[in-house]
Formats: sequence, C-alpha cells, structure tokens
Amino acid sequence: MSTQPAAHYDRVHEAWTLIMGEEFHYGYFADPATPLDEATAALTSEMLELAGIGEGDRVLDIGCGTGRQSCDLAEQLGARVLGITTSASGVAAASALARSRGVEARFEQRDGTANGLPDGAFDVVWALESSHLMRDRAGLLSESARVLAPEGRLVLCDIIRKREIPFLEVRDRRDDFAVLRAAFGDAHMEPLSVYASLLEELGMTVVEATDISVPTLPTFAAWRANVTAHSATLLGLLGEQGVADFVRSTHVLEEFWSDGTLGYGILAAVKSPL
Ligand SMILES: C[S@@+](CC[C@H](N)C(=O)[O-])C[C@H]1O[C@@H](n2cnc3c(N)ncnc32)[C@H](O)[C@@H]1O
Repeated sequence: MSTQPAAHYDRVHEAWTLIMGEEFHYGYFADPATPLDEATAALTSEMLELAGIGEGDRVLDIGCGTGRQSCDLAEQLGARVLGITTSASGVAAASALARSRGVEARFEQRDGTANGLPDGAFDVVWALESSHLMRDRAGLLSESARVLAPEGRLVLCDIIRKREIPFLEVRDRRDDFAVLRAAFGDAHMEPLSVYASLLEELGMTVVEATDISVPTLPTFAAWRANVTAHSATLLGLLGEQGVADFVRSTHVLEEFWSDGTLGYGILAAVKSPL
C-alpha cells in the first residue's frame, strides 16, 4: 500500500465520508455528546473567527478535502476561493460539489509545498488539518507567506506533536506507528512552536497559537461510532484489515492525546504591510 498522501486520500475518500462526514477533520466538542457534524462545524468556526474573511476576499484553501469548506466560504461569505489538493479524486469530488451547489469555488490539483501560484495573490491562506501531510513544513509555510498579499492572514489548525518521541520509544511502539500510517497515510507532526518560529522567520506575526487537544479528544469515539454504524459498507471499501487498522488507530491516538504525546493546535499569523 502506498503511503503517499495523494494515493492514500484517493483510496480512502469514500470511506472517510462515512466515518468523518462531509468535513474530513476533527471535531471541536463543547460537550462530548455533541454530534460529530456539529463538532466539525465548530472547528471550522474556530478557524473562521481567526480568518476574518470578508466579501470578495481571495482565499487559498490548502488541502481542500471534499471542498465543503471552500464552498461554504464562497457561498456564505462571498469569498473568491481556490481549493487545492494533491488528490485527483479530491479535485473531482470538490468540483462536483461546487457545481451541485451552484457555487463559484475553483479546485485545482496542486501541492501546498510548491503551489506555483503568483506572489501576493491571496488575502487569506486557510489550511485546515492538511499540514501534517506535508513533510516539508517550511515549504508549506514559505509558499503560504509568498502568495499572501501584505497584511494577509494565514489560519491553520492541525494535529501537533507535544513532546520529543525518543528513538527507543518509536522502536518499542513501532506497531502503533505502523497502524497510524496504515490508517492515515504518511503523517508528520510538529509542535505549535515550530510553526510559530518558521512563520516568525518568514517575517509574519503570529497572533494566535492555542492548544485545543481537550475539545478535540471526543472525535475518536465519534469516528468509532460511525464505523459501527456503517460497518458493512466500510468492510467493502477498506477490507477487514483496513477497518481494524482504523479502529485501532483511534485507540492509539486517544492514548497519545491522553498521555500528552500528540494533540491538536490552532494558529493564525499576519503578513506585514508593504
Ligand atoms: C485531513 S484532509 C482535510 C481536508 C479539509 N481541509 C477538511 O478539513 O475537511 C487533508 C487534505 O490535504 C490534502 N493534501 C495532502 N497533502 C497535500 C499537499 N502536499 N498539498 C495539498 N494538499 C494536500 C489531502 O488530499 C486532503 O484533501
């Protein structure tokens, strides 16, 4: 099985829609009993609050998933949105969603770490839970800073690493790491402080960097409930091993969240004026 993000996402797209809903990201749970779709919408709202997107703003959605947020930003806020992803089936699904909703968001297959877009072309760069799939974090952030106009804003949230994981521990827990890779592809987590220092080095001002591990923790139980609810279809899509790996990965992540190894962070930064 390939662990390249694009191949991984092409393969799991349909299954994840059943497990995670229309938005492929964690939930922000005010209460553990909050329904998953409300919690994923609440995480998007946290991002929206930091992004301050206004009518006509040019938004680059890096790692646009199903295109749901790009469409919402275009439809509800009047933003001019370009969603990019390395996944060909993601681009097709997102474009189909925009067409079916009559929304003008555009989608292109591009890599967030080398996006090929013009300098200063966007007011907001939006990266919702995609950065952990881009090993070249410096590339992602420098490309984001480059395409932002002066005073443009970057908003990003993602899984974060909260402590060093010594080599011996990686070796001892290699089965756990292998199951995470099988379920989620080739992810690479960094601390919030690494994002913040890379952005400061790029001359951006970090205005928010917050650990939101606690309100995101109930996500794993919600995903497991959806696996149970859709077990027959998921067995067809992922196979027995794939479903077992996914469920086990949620337990591994829950443990990492609880012992302070991994968690979730949200961050915003502003590009300086000319
Ligand atoms: C966890 S999904 C998040 C999707 C969406 N932002 C959401 O929250 O619903 C990660 C997305 O990042 C995309 N992705 C992975 N690597 C990428 C890269 N190098 N450049 C652009 N997109 C990438 C995947 O194809 C997928 O669409």
